[in-house]
Amino acid sequence: RFAASHGGPLSGRRVVVSAGGTREPLDPVRFIGNRSSGRQGAALAAVAAARGADVELVAANVDAALLPDGVRVTAVETTAELHDVMTARAGTADVLVMAAAVADFRPVHTAASKTKKNDDGSVAPIELTQNPDILATLAAGRRRGQVIVGFGAETGDAGGSVLDHGRAKARRKGADLLAVNQVGVGQGFGDVPNQVVVLDGSGTEVATVAGSKAEVAAGLWDVIAELLRD
Ligand code: CTP
Ligand code: CA
Repeated sequence: RFAASHGGPLSGRRVVVSAGGTREPLDPVRFIGNRSSGRQGAALAAVAAARGADVELVAANVDAALLPDGVRVTAVETTAELHDVMTARAGTADVLVMAAAVADFRPVHTAASKTKKNDDGSVAPIELTQNPDILATLAAGRRRGQVIVGFGAETGDAGGSVLDHGRAKARRKGADLLAVNQVGVGQGFGDVPNQVVVLDGSGTEVATVAGSKAEVAAGLWDVIAELLRD
């Protein structure tokens, strides 16, 4: 769908995009995960490659059929694996995009064998611990000229609107850009059109991009390319 273009606007740029959703194993057959398909991250990687970038897609549990041509793919499963790959790439990447849906928590214990039901019907609770914040770590270690981009999936609630939460998240993360996506009610997950508000690290709106995931990816790369030029 996207022709590779050497000498394109992102020519010579090293881009690393994470996609999909991390899984945290409970035992050899079960995990805690999320519904992220990886489509937005795959579209971002495809557009960057089409604009001439050297692209690596770090794919967390993404269906092989969704992986674009013309990008290197590194497969990961857990948040710890994703964290290790992204931080390893941070030293050389010009742009790091965290489009993956990262599991916020992981089980404290992972059983070595399949967990069985108890005869007495009792159920053991699952103890969770918080995962490291990969985006915040990348932003805190940002090198000069490097651009760090995150995605924030939000729903409005009693505490504030989608944008209120997005602004607070943008400031908390410290990334150069946070693309805020309204999720739920048929938006954001799966193959449906979405609307993304792009905020800078102070929570200021810098762009709004609507449409398919490919259109959102194209609009986001326009904004990122501006930052790379400065
Ligand atoms: N992210 C990350 N590491 C985490 C959690 C999230 O790098 N442990 C990244 C995601 O890849 C995304 C951005 O942070 O780019 C926002 O993710 P989101 O889940 O919306 O933010 P959280 O900080 O986890 O806040 P919330 O409590 O709303 O889930
Ligand atoms: Ca989260």
